[in-house]
Amino acid sequence: MAGKIPQHFIDDLLDRVDIVDVISARVQLKKTGKNYSACCPFHDEKTPSFTVSPEKQFYYCFGCQASGNAVGFVMDFDRFSFPEAVEQLARDMGMEVPREETTPFEDERARYKKRLFNTLNEADEYFQQQLRKHPAASNAIDYLKGRGLTGQISRIFGIGYAPPGWDNLLNTLGTDSESVRLQVDAGLLIEKPEENKRYDRFRNRIIFPIRDTRGRTIAFGGRVLGDDKPKYLNSPETPVFHKGRELYGLYEATQSGSELKQVVVVEGYMDVVALAQHGIDNAVATLGTAITAPHLEKLFRYTPEVVFCFDGDNAGRQAAHRALENCLPMMEDGRSAKFLFLPEGEDPDSLVRKSGTERFRDRLAEAAPLSKFLFDTAGEGIDTDTPDGKARLVKLATPYIQRIPRNVFRSLLTNQLAKLTGMDGDKLDTLIGDKVEPTPAKPEQQQYQHQDQHQQQAAEGIPPAPDWTEEPPEYYPDQSQSPSEPSRHSLPPRKPEKRPPLPQPERRIQMSPERTLVAILLNNLDFAQQIEIPPGFNTLDSKEIQLFEELVTLLKEEPTLCINQIIARKFAVNDTENGRTMAAIAASETMHPPGETERDNWREFHDALRIIERQAFANLSIPEQIATLIQKEQIDEFDVKAAMRILPLALKSDLDTEIKEKLNQIIRRRR
Ligand code: UTP
Ligand code: MN
Repeated sequence: MAGKIPQHFIDDLLDRVDIVDVISARVQLKKTGKNYSACCPFHDEKTPSFTVSPEKQFYYCFGCQASGNAVGFVMDFDRFSFPEAVEQLARDMGMEVPREETTPFEDERARYKKRLFNTLNEADEYFQQQLRKHPAASNAIDYLKGRGLTGQISRIFGIGYAPPGWDNLLNTLGTDSESVRLQVDAGLLIEKPEENKRYDRFRNRIIFPIRDTRGRTIAFGGRVLGDDKPKYLNSPETPVFHKGRELYGLYEATQSGSELKQVVVVEGYMDVVALAQHGIDNAVATLGTAITAPHLEKLFRYTPEVVFCFDGDNAGRQAAHRALENCLPMMEDGRSAKFLFLPEGEDPDSLVRKSGTERFRDRLAEAAPLSKFLFDTAGEGIDTDTPDGKARLVKLATPYIQRIPRNVFRSLLTNQLAKLTGMDGDKLDTLIGDKVEPTPAKPEQQQYQHQDQHQQQAAEGIPPAPDWTEEPPEYYPDQSQSPSEPSRHSLPPRKPEKRPPLPQPERRIQMSPERTLVAILLNNLDFAQQIEIPPGFNTLDSKEIQLFEELVTLLKEEPTLCINQIIARKFAVNDTENGRTMAAIAASETMHPPGETERDNWREFHDALRIIERQAFANLSIPEQIATLIQKEQIDEFDVKAAMRILPLALKSDLDTEIKEKLNQIIRRRR
């Protein structure tokens, strides 16, 4: 395979192409002031809100928030991966794309992952073989039969058996240090070096191999045969297994022959297998976690329709709500999501066994479309026959509809809301607009408010957006007695998907200080030269802060970079998600809608930095705080209040008397 495209080439290419040429070759642009505009090619609209800035070499849509540079545009418009888009632009410019050799480090990582896959594969074969051969396997076979499964279905899903004992797999896969390391890293072996112990993770359990969509086994789930706890044990996160992205049964569903017209999402391994046993071979399950946005992205790549099956209890309702939230931004035209609530106390496995395939299919056919579930949820307990109730329904349904990309589906929902409330559809559409939920401000952040009118509008009574980057909550914490965190390896760059998903709408929100920092910096790159990363920044657990730190460091090293090139760098390492986040943040500040006044960027930047600095400061140890304060005294930005707060602690601590004295002096002098 061809190597990576060298960064200097991408920089050079971006220097040469003009985004206006690139876009106008595909969309008809109209000059409006400094910028160009058009009806957005990424969503349906009648009045143009798609803007191209020749100055920033950037496009941005005020309607659907699609944004990016020339490469990003070609990726989204032509549905190309990053390298394909670069190739295309290079061809247009008559340039040839050079390729870098892969580094020895990258080769090593690739080889290592291959060995992990091998280890997992050997384990998989071992478990399957044990189900047939092990003297104690009859228990397992009886159990599976008792649950209505045939040998044929077991084979399709590769169901196996981990026999009782502490080191069966270990002895099979090898006890030399290399094999042991692989088994630990693959999540198969638990190691407790301090007790000088190591043992198989899966013991005396039915084994369900978890496969990726290429059919490679990447993890296992193991069920006890009886009522012991934990009922299921899953592989931990490993370099090849991420719970928040994988779906049990998806590979098997794709293998079942015809195209997937629909995928049914259920809760458990057994539900998937039992449904397949009854001829419903399009079910998948999350791995003991809630459904995440990456899960949904993956599903919608394989099917246009997803039906969620939930238990009829409270937990089921909650899970459904979360699924709804995560679905909204993905509801491109042509996709559909449905919600099915099962009777309390039943799961798909018990139902299909009790009342058969046809009855289950009927239930699936009766699942509530997203629109119904949305209005039921928003309208719960509201009497929509009264004007009050109607107003309330509009208020509660609006934040949901706002999260759907502007498209036909969204218009239909808006119309439906109009009918339900007797409002005029167009008026409602304008009212719903693009306001979007603010992330709830932390106390520290509340004092910091943007003047942006759109953002101000957004501030009222709207539920928080789910965090897309968040790990899914575990319903069942892994209860294996693993002595320490599983070893983590950074993965090699993710391969771009064949069809890059359209940019997720980055809405205009009331920005947190973290985001403000990134946004202003991206539009005022020289600010990086005027600041230092304050001590303790790395203690703050925030994606934006990390991005900010990366940017400042990068800009100090290469002060001549422009936004366009920086974003390309993110894409170039195939960190597409971060690239998009950054593009969207940059664009939301780059192009103000007409009439919006420029802000005092440096003041805002400085204020935001101070807020973050204070948070970081609070995370430092007392000696570190003192060192910081003393250092700051020298650059004349001494924060007396902070010093006053730590002085009593400092005096009580066993710090050098000299330092304590110095701190005292500083405070006396500054007051
Ligand atoms: P359920 O407890 O609903 O399992 O958990 P189930 O599939 O109906 O199990 P059976 O029918 O008793 O065999 C649903 C899913 O939650 C995860 C597993 O992924 C399971 O399939 N889970 C459950 C765990 O990870 N650990 C547990 O201890 C229990
Ligand atoms: Mn069950």
